[in-house]
Amino acid sequence: MKKVLHIVGARPNFMKVAPIYRAIEARGLLTQVLVHTGQHYDVKMSDVFFADLGLPAPHIHLNVGSGSHAEQTARVMLALEKVCLEEKPDLVSVVGDVNSTVAAALVTSKLHIPLAHVEAGLRSWDRSMPEEVNRLVVDRLADLLLTPSPDGDENLLKEGVEPSRIHFVGNVMIDSLLHAREAALELPTLQGLGLTPGGYGVCTLHRASNVDDVKVLGGLLSALAHVSRRLPIVFPVHPRTRKMLQEGGLSSVLEAAPALKLVEPLGYLDFLCLTAQARLILTDSGGLQEESTALGVPCLTLRENTERPITVEVGTNLVVGTDPERIRTEALKVLDGQGKRGRIPEKWDGKSAERIADVYARFLGASAPVPLAAIG
Ligand code: UD1
Repeated sequence: MKKVLHIVGARPNFMKVAPIYRAIEARGLLTQVLVHTGQHYDVKMSDVFFADLGLPAPHIHLNVGSGSHAEQTARVMLALEKVCLEEKPDLVSVVGDVNSTVAAALVTSKLHIPLAHVEAGLRSWDRSMPEEVNRLVVDRLADLLLTPSPDGDENLLKEGVEPSRIHFVGNVMIDSLLHAREAALELPTLQGLGLTPGGYGVCTLHRASNVDDVKVLGGLLSALAHVSRRLPIVFPVHPRTRKMLQEGGLSSVLEAAPALKLVEPLGYLDFLCLTAQARLILTDSGGLQEESTALGVPCLTLRENTERPITVEVGTNLVVGTDPERIRTEALKVLDGQGKRGRIPEKWDGKSAERIADVYARFLGASAPVPLAAIG
């Protein structure tokens, strides 16, 4: 049987791989190996997601941990090269745009192993974002480019990618969301936090440009504190952000805002339970912009740009930047009933992983034999 090696490393990778792994497994035509680079390692950033998403424990763990961009990328490359030489996969599948993704793409290409990139073609046109650099490199190297939205196809075509390599499969992260929504809504997450459906907002912040600079982070917190006077806001705090909150002397802003409730990072199901019933989402996450659109919850993106324009054009997202005054104004508009309603983008239908499994099977010549009865 042909072998597919899946690479995951950071939190947003896990919900993209889970449905692909499941779809390939159900067909039984390919062997799968799941490699975790260890870019994210806290239980709350990693293990919880494997459990919530029904992913098997990784077959191989590289334990690379944190570091500068070069350190982290290089450590994944060094460890993964050995794994690829031993495992001899027929295809390596990477998802998203984190450092583990680009490291895996470089190793794979140099070993002449075919590479598939899930979530290809997204562009923020902002190379100060490490993820944009990762996206550009991975898409340049990939043999199969699986796009979540038509803008992805357009960007790739403009960059000269051969049309036969591009496959518009839809958004595989939404497969996970639709698969888990019912179970998530059964959880007592809201009661545990003293919240009622529609009676709170959710905020997440972890983007380097927002949290590594104490002035920017302070401005964002003051805007959130202001909005929380009208609507309580739950803020699960990413470790990177937690560090800056501790080191940056921002505790006085937080103490003055009791309705801005900071909590530990949540698991996939608890977080979905929270976002699905929120009145408003404020975030700098790419994935959450998409999830808000899928859930029909108004989203304000606290960044100057987005690599996911479909969430603005079709969905519930509005890119508002990081100016505290603008954030306050737009948030209050949502609370006054002027939030975007939006529609569900094309092929965000829970079947993207099936399409991806089809593309991989065709590429590897591993399609199911046509039953004799069908041939007649
Ligand atoms: C990474 C991705 C980003 C993604 C985000 C999701 C890159 C360049 N960035 O950013 O695209 O949106 O994951 O969360 O790949 N840390 C812990 N525990 C962990 C992981 C990290 O404490 O389990 C802390 C460490 O101090 C680390 C810092 O968070 O130095 C940043 O982690 P890192 O993986 O470098 O980047 P993220 O900010 O998580």
